[in-house]
Amino acid sequence: MNARVEKALNEQVIKEGSSSQFYLAMASWAETKGLNGTAQFLYQHSDEERFHMLKLVKFINERGGQAIIPAVEQPPVEFESLEHVFELLLEHELAVTASINSLVDICLQEKDYTTHNFVQWYVSEQLEEEALARTILDKLKLIGGDKGGMYMFDRDLENSAITAAPANQDQAK
Ligand code: FEO
Repeated sequence: MNARVEKALNEQVIKEGSSSQFYLAMASWAETKGLNGTAQFLYQHSDEERFHMLKLVKFINERGGQAIIPAVEQPPVEFESLEHVFELLLEHELAVTASINSLVDICLQEKDYTTHNFVQWYVSEQLEEEALARTILDKLKLIGGDKGGMYMFDRDLENSAITAAPANQDQAK
């Protein structure tokens, strides 16, 4: 496998792994605040990021490269508010999108069309994840800290985690 592409893919492994840890920290924080639906949604999101990492690891190895499993970095323990959690999540996803775009660029520069094709899955995934984070943030802004609204918000996220679960199981096969 092209050395520059392999290096860029391994850098993406780090980013997906750290996303998984970051969202796991958010999930744990939400759970301690009694936001069980939000926690369930974020635990699931963390699992999805681990799957994104694993998909890269397998691809690198199958193409004759060597995937490098990164060290685990300590994510934040405390968050200011739920709105801040989702602001951080959107910011993080925007950084991941920039990194995927640069991976696409490298594939084209190196004429690695197979990896370019593989990376398109991540391009679509980023579109969805950014849109989801923005929708959630818009809802939180509308609620503006109203307790009844927060209760509904948390329940909605729990329902969306339940609805999304079977799809993820299929994805992981
Ligand atoms: Fe795998 Fe949310 O980026």
